[in-house]
Amino acid sequence: MITWLRQRSILPICESVLAPANDQSSMNPLFRTKPLPPIFTDIRILALFGSVAATILVLSTFVLFRRVSQQSGLPHGPQVHVSGESVDTATRKLAVPEDDRAVEKLTVNDIKIVEPGEASMSVRPDPVRIKQPCEALLVLDVEATCVQGSDFHWPNEIIEWPVCLMRWKDKDADGIANRLEVAAEFRTFVKPTWRPTLTQFCTNLTGITQKQVDHAPTFPEVIDQFTKFLSDNGLIHPETGQRLIRFFWCTDGPFDIRDFVIKQCFISKIHLPPWIRGDVMDVRKVVSRIAYHEGRKGSGKKAFAFQKRLSLNLTSQLRFLNLSPFIGRQHSGIDDTRNIARIVSELARRGVRLEPNTYIQADRRWQWMGKPGEILEEYLS
Ligand SMILES: *[C@@H]1O[C@H](CO)[C@@H](O)[C@H](O)[C@H]1NC(C)=O
Ligand SMILES: *[C@@H]1O[C@H](CO)[C@@H](O)[C@H](O)[C@H]1NC(C)=O
Repeated sequence: MITWLRQRSILPICESVLAPANDQSSMNPLFRTKPLPPIFTDIRILALFGSVAATILVLSTFVLFRRVSQQSGLPHGPQVHVSGESVDTATRKLAVPEDDRAVEKLTVNDIKIVEPGEASMSVRPDPVRIKQPCEALLVLDVEATCVQGSDFHWPNEIIEWPVCLMRWKDKDADGIANRLEVAAEFRTFVKPTWRPTLTQFCTNLTGITQKQVDHAPTFPEVIDQFTKFLSDNGLIHPETGQRLIRFFWCTDGPFDIRDFVIKQCFISKIHLPPWIRGDVMDVRKVVSRIAYHEGRKGSGKKAFAFQKRLSLNLTSQLRFLNLSPFIGRQHSGIDDTRNIARIVSELARRGVRLEPNTYIQADRRWQWMGKPGEILEEYLS
Protein backbone atom coordinates (compact mmCIF):
# COMPACT_ATOMS: atom_id res chain seq x y z
CA MET A 1 0.00 0.00 0.00
CA ILE A 2 2.74 2.44 1.03
CA THR A 3 4.73 1.60 -2.10
CA TRP A 4 1.63 2.07 -4.19
CA LEU A 5 0.97 5.48 -2.64
CA ARG A 6 4.57 6.47 -3.18
CA GLN A 7 4.40 5.42 -6.82
CA ARG A 8 1.24 7.44 -7.28
CA SER A 9 3.16 10.35 -5.69
CA ILE A 10 0.52 10.74 -3.00
CA LEU A 11 2.94 10.05 -0.15
CA PRO A 12 5.54 12.62 -1.19
CA ILE A 13 2.73 15.21 -1.20
CA CYS A 14 1.63 14.42 2.33
CA GLU A 15 5.24 14.31 3.52
CA SER A 16 5.83 17.81 2.17
CA VAL A 17 2.58 19.02 3.77
CA LEU A 18 3.78 17.69 7.13
CA ALA A 19 7.29 19.06 6.86
CA PRO A 20 6.60 22.46 8.48
CA ALA A 21 5.00 20.80 11.51
CA ASN A 22 8.07 18.64 11.98
CA ASP A 23 10.30 21.70 11.76
CA GLN A 24 8.21 23.45 14.38
CA SER A 25 8.47 20.50 16.75
CA SER A 26 12.24 20.49 16.42
CA MET A 27 12.30 24.15 17.43
CA ASN A 28 9.91 23.94 20.32
CA PRO A 29 10.78 21.28 22.99
CA LEU A 30 7.05 21.06 23.90
CA PHE A 31 6.32 19.64 20.47
CA ARG A 32 9.04 17.02 20.68
CA THR A 33 6.59 14.16 21.17
CA LYS A 34 6.86 11.46 18.53
CA PRO A 35 5.08 12.72 15.36
CA LEU A 36 2.28 10.60 13.90
CA PRO A 37 3.25 8.57 10.84
CA PRO A 38 2.38 10.73 7.83
CA ILE A 39 -0.10 8.23 6.47
CA PHE A 40 -2.59 8.77 9.33
CA THR A 41 -2.52 12.46 9.18
CA ASP A 42 -3.49 13.15 5.64
CA ILE A 43 -7.16 13.75 5.17
CA ARG A 44 -7.20 12.22 1.69
CA ILE A 45 -5.75 8.93 2.96
CA LEU A 46 -8.34 8.83 5.73
CA ALA A 47 -11.10 9.44 3.21
CA LEU A 48 -9.77 6.59 1.09
CA PHE A 49 -9.84 4.14 4.04
CA GLY A 50 -13.21 5.44 5.10
CA SER A 51 -14.86 4.82 1.76
CA VAL A 52 -13.36 1.31 1.46
CA ALA A 53 -14.69 0.44 4.92
CA ALA A 54 -18.12 1.87 4.10
CA THR A 55 -18.32 -0.18 0.89
CA ILE A 56 -17.45 -3.39 2.76
CA LEU A 57 -20.08 -2.60 5.38
CA VAL A 58 -22.80 -1.96 2.80
CA LEU A 59 -21.96 -5.15 0.88
CA SER A 60 -21.94 -7.39 3.95
CA THR A 61 -25.23 -5.94 5.18
CA PHE A 62 -26.78 -6.69 1.79
CA VAL A 63 -25.51 -10.30 1.78
CA LEU A 64 -26.70 -10.83 5.35
CA PHE A 65 -30.13 -9.43 4.57
CA ARG A 66 -30.52 -11.72 1.56
CA ARG A 67 -29.64 -14.76 3.64
CA VAL A 68 -32.00 -13.89 6.42
CA SER A 69 -34.86 -13.21 4.02
CA GLN A 70 -34.24 -16.50 2.17
CA GLN A 71 -34.14 -18.46 5.41
CA SER A 72 -37.32 -17.00 6.75
CA GLY A 73 -39.07 -17.42 3.41
CA LEU A 74 -39.73 -13.70 3.09
CA PRO A 75 -40.52 -12.70 -0.43
CA HIS A 76 -37.63 -10.78 -1.95
CA GLY A 77 -38.67 -10.22 -5.51
CA PRO A 78 -38.03 -13.19 -7.76
CA GLN A 79 -39.96 -16.43 -7.42
CA VAL A 80 -38.49 -19.83 -6.80
CA HIS A 81 -38.60 -22.07 -9.85
CA VAL A 82 -38.55 -25.73 -8.99
CA SER A 83 -38.76 -27.70 -12.19
CA GLY A 84 -35.87 -29.90 -13.28
CA GLU A 85 -33.82 -27.14 -14.78
CA SER A 86 -30.89 -27.71 -17.07
CA VAL A 87 -27.59 -28.27 -15.36
CA ASP A 88 -26.04 -25.07 -14.13
CA THR A 89 -22.79 -24.74 -12.24
CA ALA A 90 -24.45 -25.13 -8.86
CA THR A 91 -26.27 -28.31 -9.84
CA ARG A 92 -23.20 -29.65 -11.53
CA LYS A 93 -21.26 -29.23 -8.33
CA LEU A 94 -23.97 -31.05 -6.43
CA ALA A 95 -24.13 -33.84 -8.94
CA VAL A 96 -20.38 -34.49 -9.04
CA PRO A 97 -20.35 -37.90 -7.48
CA GLU A 98 -18.34 -37.30 -4.33
CA ASP A 99 -21.31 -37.63 -2.07
CA ASP A 100 -22.48 -41.23 -2.17
CA ARG A 101 -24.98 -41.11 0.61
CA ALA A 102 -28.41 -42.29 -0.37
CA VAL A 103 -29.87 -38.98 0.74
CA GLU A 104 -28.99 -36.19 -1.64
CA LYS A 105 -28.81 -32.86 0.04
CA LEU A 106 -30.44 -30.00 -1.75
CA THR A 107 -29.42 -26.46 -1.04
CA VAL A 108 -30.93 -23.09 -1.82
CA ASN A 109 -28.38 -22.79 -4.63
CA ASP A 110 -30.06 -25.68 -6.43
CA ILE A 111 -33.23 -23.74 -6.84
CA LYS A 112 -33.22 -21.54 -9.86
CA ILE A 113 -34.49 -18.08 -9.18
CA VAL A 114 -36.64 -16.74 -11.98
CA GLU A 115 -38.01 -13.26 -12.38
CA PRO A 116 -41.69 -12.82 -11.51
CA GLY A 117 -43.81 -13.31 -14.59
CA GLU A 118 -41.70 -16.12 -15.98
CA ALA A 119 -43.67 -19.36 -15.99
CA SER A 120 -43.16 -21.12 -12.68
CA MET A 121 -43.83 -24.74 -11.83
CA SER A 122 -47.44 -25.63 -11.55
CA VAL A 123 -47.85 -28.06 -8.71
CA ARG A 124 -51.61 -28.13 -8.87
CA PRO A 125 -53.07 -31.36 -10.21
CA ASP A 126 -54.60 -29.62 -13.23
CA PRO A 127 -53.29 -30.53 -16.66
CA VAL A 128 -51.01 -27.86 -18.13
CA ARG A 129 -49.71 -27.83 -21.67
CA ILE A 130 -46.24 -26.39 -22.11
CA LYS A 131 -43.41 -26.52 -24.61
CA GLN A 132 -41.34 -29.64 -23.93
CA PRO A 133 -37.80 -29.76 -25.32
CA CYS A 134 -37.38 -33.53 -25.69
CA GLU A 135 -39.03 -35.98 -28.08
CA ALA A 136 -38.60 -39.14 -26.01
CA LEU A 137 -37.46 -40.26 -22.56
CA LEU A 138 -35.83 -43.48 -21.44
CA VAL A 139 -36.66 -44.48 -17.88
CA LEU A 140 -34.19 -46.90 -16.33
CA ASP A 141 -33.93 -48.56 -12.94
CA VAL A 142 -31.20 -51.19 -12.90
CA GLU A 143 -30.76 -53.86 -10.25
CA ALA A 144 -27.24 -54.87 -9.30
CA THR A 145 -25.41 -57.43 -7.19
CA CYS A 146 -24.94 -56.42 -3.59
CA VAL A 147 -23.63 -57.85 -0.38
CA GLN A 148 -25.15 -57.02 2.97
CA GLY A 149 -23.43 -54.05 4.58
CA SER A 150 -21.57 -52.96 1.45
CA ASP A 151 -21.92 -49.32 0.48
CA PHE A 152 -21.88 -47.54 -2.85
CA HIS A 153 -18.16 -48.22 -3.23
CA TRP A 154 -18.71 -51.92 -3.91
CA PRO A 155 -18.11 -53.19 -7.49
CA ASN A 156 -21.80 -53.94 -8.09
CA GLU A 157 -22.61 -55.77 -11.31
CA ILE A 158 -25.85 -55.07 -13.15
CA ILE A 159 -28.27 -58.04 -13.10
CA GLU A 160 -31.42 -56.45 -14.54
CA TRP A 161 -31.72 -53.90 -17.36
CA PRO A 162 -35.32 -52.62 -17.61
CA VAL A 163 -36.20 -49.58 -19.72
CA CYS A 164 -39.47 -47.81 -20.49
CA LEU A 165 -39.38 -45.72 -23.65
CA MET A 166 -41.78 -42.78 -23.25
CA ARG A 167 -43.13 -40.60 -26.01
CA TRP A 168 -45.47 -37.64 -26.31
CA LYS A 169 -48.93 -38.50 -27.56
CA ASP A 170 -50.08 -34.97 -28.23
CA LYS A 171 -47.06 -32.92 -29.20
CA ASP A 172 -48.02 -30.20 -31.67
CA ALA A 173 -45.95 -28.31 -34.23
CA ASP A 174 -44.84 -25.81 -31.55
CA GLY A 175 -43.55 -28.58 -29.28
CA ILE A 176 -46.41 -28.12 -26.83
CA ALA A 177 -47.58 -31.27 -25.06
CA ASN A 178 -48.65 -32.83 -21.80
CA ARG A 179 -49.44 -36.49 -22.55
CA LEU A 180 -46.34 -38.62 -22.12
CA GLU A 181 -46.85 -42.37 -22.29
CA VAL A 182 -44.85 -45.58 -22.32
CA ALA A 183 -44.47 -46.49 -26.00
CA ALA A 184 -42.22 -49.55 -25.63
CA GLU A 185 -40.40 -51.58 -23.00
CA PHE A 186 -37.12 -53.41 -22.98
CA ARG A 187 -36.24 -55.77 -20.16
CA THR A 188 -33.66 -58.42 -19.62
CA PHE A 189 -31.72 -59.98 -16.76
CA VAL A 190 -27.94 -59.74 -16.98
CA LYS A 191 -25.40 -62.39 -16.09
CA PRO A 192 -22.74 -61.15 -13.66
CA THR A 193 -19.18 -62.27 -14.46
CA TRP A 194 -16.96 -61.15 -11.58
CA ARG A 195 -19.12 -62.75 -8.84
CA PRO A 196 -21.58 -64.94 -10.77
CA THR A 197 -23.26 -66.22 -7.59
CA LEU A 198 -25.94 -63.97 -6.11
CA THR A 199 -26.06 -63.52 -2.34
CA GLN A 200 -29.23 -64.47 -0.49
CA PHE A 201 -29.45 -60.82 0.54
CA CYS A 202 -29.47 -59.74 -3.11
CA THR A 203 -32.14 -62.27 -4.09
CA ASN A 204 -34.27 -61.19 -1.12
CA LEU A 205 -33.93 -57.55 -2.03
CA THR A 206 -34.49 -57.75 -5.79
CA GLY A 207 -36.48 -60.96 -6.18
CA ILE A 208 -33.99 -62.00 -8.87
CA THR A 209 -32.99 -65.66 -8.70
CA GLN A 210 -29.73 -67.37 -9.54
CA LYS A 211 -31.45 -69.25 -12.36
CA GLN A 212 -32.64 -66.00 -13.99
CA VAL A 213 -29.14 -64.56 -14.18
CA ASP A 214 -27.45 -67.85 -15.13
CA HIS A 215 -29.50 -67.95 -18.32
CA ALA A 216 -29.16 -64.25 -19.08
CA PRO A 217 -26.85 -62.52 -21.57
CA THR A 218 -23.76 -60.72 -20.29
CA PHE A 219 -23.71 -56.92 -20.11
CA PRO A 220 -21.95 -56.34 -23.48
CA GLU A 221 -24.52 -58.63 -25.12
CA VAL A 222 -27.33 -56.68 -23.46
CA ILE A 223 -25.83 -53.43 -24.75
CA ASP A 224 -25.90 -54.81 -28.30
CA GLN A 225 -29.53 -55.93 -27.94
CA PHE A 226 -30.51 -52.62 -26.46
CA THR A 227 -28.75 -50.66 -29.21
CA LYS A 228 -30.95 -52.54 -31.66
CA PHE A 229 -34.03 -51.66 -29.59
CA LEU A 230 -33.09 -47.98 -29.86
CA SER A 231 -32.61 -48.10 -33.62
CA ASP A 232 -35.80 -50.17 -34.12
CA ASN A 233 -37.67 -47.42 -32.29
CA GLY A 234 -36.10 -44.65 -34.35
CA LEU A 235 -34.04 -43.08 -31.57
CA ILE A 236 -30.64 -43.71 -33.14
CA HIS A 237 -29.37 -44.37 -36.64
CA PRO A 238 -28.99 -48.15 -37.22
CA GLU A 239 -25.52 -47.79 -38.79
CA THR A 240 -23.90 -44.69 -37.37
CA GLY A 241 -25.55 -44.82 -33.95
CA GLN A 242 -26.20 -41.07 -34.19
CA ARG A 243 -29.14 -39.69 -32.27
CA LEU A 244 -32.08 -39.08 -34.58
CA ILE A 245 -34.36 -37.35 -32.06
CA ARG A 246 -33.82 -35.50 -28.82
CA PHE A 247 -34.06 -37.90 -25.86
CA PHE A 248 -32.55 -38.30 -22.42
CA TRP A 249 -32.52 -40.71 -19.50
CA CYS A 250 -34.62 -40.60 -16.33
CA THR A 251 -33.76 -42.39 -13.10
CA ASP A 252 -34.87 -42.31 -9.46
CA GLY A 253 -31.83 -40.74 -7.80
CA PRO A 254 -28.52 -40.33 -9.64
CA PHE A 255 -27.20 -43.82 -8.84
CA ASP A 256 -28.30 -45.96 -11.79
CA ILE A 257 -26.17 -44.35 -14.45
CA ARG A 258 -23.70 -42.34 -12.35
CA ASP A 259 -22.66 -45.41 -10.33
CA PHE A 260 -23.94 -48.72 -11.65
CA VAL A 261 -23.58 -48.21 -15.40
CA ILE A 262 -20.15 -46.57 -15.07
CA LYS A 263 -18.89 -49.43 -12.85
CA GLN A 264 -20.36 -52.10 -15.12
CA CYS A 265 -18.74 -50.63 -18.23
CA PHE A 266 -15.39 -50.74 -16.44
CA ILE A 267 -15.91 -54.35 -15.31
CA SER A 268 -17.05 -55.37 -18.81
CA LYS A 269 -14.17 -53.45 -20.41
CA ILE A 270 -16.44 -51.48 -22.72
CA HIS A 271 -16.87 -47.76 -23.32
CA LEU A 272 -19.92 -45.99 -22.04
CA PRO A 273 -22.33 -46.34 -25.01
CA PRO A 274 -22.79 -43.02 -26.85
CA TRP A 275 -26.57 -43.20 -26.44
CA ILE A 276 -26.28 -43.03 -22.66
CA ARG A 277 -23.81 -40.16 -22.58
CA GLY A 278 -25.07 -36.81 -21.48
CA ASP A 279 -26.92 -35.63 -18.48
CA VAL A 280 -29.79 -37.36 -16.75
CA MET A 281 -33.05 -36.26 -15.21
CA ASP A 282 -33.14 -37.39 -11.60
CA VAL A 283 -36.87 -37.72 -11.05
CA ARG A 284 -36.47 -37.91 -7.28
CA LYS A 285 -34.80 -34.51 -7.32
CA VAL A 286 -37.59 -32.98 -9.39
CA VAL A 287 -40.42 -34.34 -7.20
CA SER A 288 -38.57 -33.58 -3.96
CA ARG A 289 -38.11 -29.97 -5.02
CA ILE A 290 -41.77 -29.59 -5.85
CA ALA A 291 -42.62 -31.11 -2.47
CA TYR A 292 -40.20 -28.72 -0.82
CA HIS A 293 -41.75 -25.78 -2.61
CA GLU A 294 -45.20 -26.85 -1.43
CA GLY A 295 -43.94 -27.38 2.13
CA ARG A 296 -42.26 -24.02 2.10
CA LYS A 297 -45.45 -22.27 1.09
CA GLY A 298 -47.22 -23.96 3.97
CA SER A 299 -44.77 -23.84 6.82
CA GLY A 300 -42.64 -20.72 6.46
CA LYS A 301 -39.49 -20.86 8.55
CA LYS A 302 -39.45 -24.57 9.23
CA ALA A 303 -39.30 -25.36 5.53
CA PHE A 304 -35.69 -24.27 5.25
CA ALA A 305 -34.44 -27.09 7.46
CA PHE A 306 -37.00 -29.46 5.97
CA GLN A 307 -35.77 -28.83 2.45
CA LYS A 308 -32.15 -29.57 3.15
CA ARG A 309 -32.71 -33.27 3.59
CA LEU A 310 -35.82 -33.80 1.54
CA SER A 311 -35.43 -36.80 -0.74
CA LEU A 312 -38.60 -38.73 -1.41
CA ASN A 313 -38.50 -42.44 -2.25
CA LEU A 314 -40.84 -43.84 -4.90
CA THR A 315 -43.62 -44.60 -2.41
CA SER A 316 -43.58 -41.04 -1.12
CA GLN A 317 -43.28 -39.52 -4.59
CA LEU A 318 -46.39 -41.42 -5.72
CA ARG A 319 -48.26 -40.36 -2.61
CA PHE A 320 -47.18 -36.75 -2.96
CA LEU A 321 -48.47 -36.66 -6.55
CA ASN A 322 -51.77 -38.30 -5.54
CA LEU A 323 -51.09 -41.31 -7.73
CA SER A 324 -52.16 -44.81 -6.77
CA PRO A 325 -49.63 -46.68 -4.57
CA PHE A 326 -46.61 -48.56 -5.92
CA ILE A 327 -47.67 -51.24 -8.40
CA GLY A 328 -45.71 -54.49 -8.26
CA ARG A 329 -42.71 -55.44 -6.15
CA GLN A 330 -40.34 -52.80 -4.75
CA HIS A 331 -36.73 -53.31 -6.01
CA SER A 332 -37.85 -55.35 -8.96
CA GLY A 333 -36.17 -53.38 -11.72
CA ILE A 334 -39.06 -53.47 -14.17
CA ASP A 335 -41.65 -52.60 -11.50
CA ASP A 336 -39.55 -49.69 -10.22
CA THR A 337 -39.10 -48.51 -13.82
CA ARG A 338 -42.83 -48.62 -14.57
CA ASN A 339 -43.65 -46.71 -11.41
CA ILE A 340 -41.04 -44.06 -12.23
CA ALA A 341 -42.65 -43.82 -15.68
CA ARG A 342 -46.01 -43.15 -13.98
CA ILE A 343 -44.39 -40.34 -12.00
CA VAL A 344 -42.74 -38.82 -15.09
CA SER A 345 -46.03 -39.01 -16.94
CA GLU A 346 -47.77 -37.15 -14.11
CA LEU A 347 -45.07 -34.47 -14.06
CA ALA A 348 -45.60 -34.02 -17.79
CA ARG A 349 -49.36 -33.79 -17.34
CA ARG A 350 -48.93 -31.06 -14.73
CA GLY A 351 -46.75 -29.03 -17.07
CA VAL A 352 -43.34 -29.61 -15.53
CA ARG A 353 -40.66 -28.93 -18.11
CA LEU A 354 -38.74 -32.21 -18.38
CA GLU A 355 -35.01 -31.88 -18.91
CA PRO A 356 -31.74 -33.18 -17.46
CA ASN A 357 -30.69 -31.98 -14.01
CA THR A 358 -27.83 -34.31 -13.08
CA TYR A 359 -24.35 -34.41 -14.49
CA ILE A 360 -22.82 -37.80 -15.33
CA GLN A 361 -19.07 -38.11 -15.14
CA ALA A 362 -18.15 -40.83 -17.64
CA ASP A 363 -14.58 -41.32 -16.41
CA ARG A 364 -15.41 -41.69 -12.74
CA ARG A 365 -13.06 -44.08 -10.92
CA TRP A 366 -13.23 -46.06 -7.69
CA GLN A 367 -10.28 -47.18 -5.60
CA TRP A 368 -10.76 -50.85 -6.50
CA MET A 369 -10.38 -50.16 -10.22
CA GLY A 370 -7.13 -51.44 -11.64
CA LYS A 371 -6.56 -51.89 -15.35
CA PRO A 372 -9.82 -51.96 -17.38
CA GLY A 373 -11.87 -54.90 -16.14
CA GLU A 374 -9.56 -55.55 -13.19
CA ILE A 375 -10.96 -55.40 -9.66
CA LEU A 376 -8.32 -54.92 -6.97
CA GLU A 377 -9.87 -56.94 -4.16
CA GLU A 378 -7.47 -55.56 -1.54
CA TYR A 379 -9.35 -52.26 -1.82
CA LEU A 380 -12.72 -53.76 -0.97
CA SER A 381 -13.70 -53.28 2.63
C1 LIG B 1 -33.99 -63.81 3.02
O1 LIG B 1 -35.39 -64.05 3.18
C2 LIG B 1 -35.70 -65.23 3.91
C3 LIG B 1 -37.18 -65.48 3.85
O2 LIG B 1 -37.89 -64.30 4.01
C4 LIG B 1 -35.16 -65.05 5.34
O3 LIG B 1 -35.43 -66.20 6.10
C5 LIG B 1 -33.66 -64.81 5.30
O4 LIG B 1 -33.17 -64.54 6.58
C6 LIG B 1 -33.33 -63.66 4.38
N1 LIG B 1 -31.87 -63.63 4.21
C7 LIG B 1 -31.17 -62.51 4.14
C8 LIG B 1 -29.69 -62.65 4.02
O5 LIG B 1 -31.68 -61.40 4.15
C1 LIG C 1 -40.28 -44.35 1.84
O1 LIG C 1 -40.19 -43.23 2.68
C2 LIG C 1 -41.19 -43.26 3.68
C3 LIG C 1 -41.12 -41.92 4.39
O2 LIG C 1 -39.81 -41.58 4.71
C4 LIG C 1 -40.98 -44.45 4.60
O3 LIG C 1 -41.95 -44.47 5.63
C5 LIG C 1 -41.07 -45.71 3.77
O4 LIG C 1 -40.77 -46.85 4.58
C6 LIG C 1 -40.13 -45.67 2.60
N1 LIG C 1 -40.44 -46.78 1.74
C7 LIG C 1 -39.53 -47.59 1.23
C8 LIG C 1 -40.04 -48.69 0.38
O5 LIG C 1 -38.34 -47.46 1.44
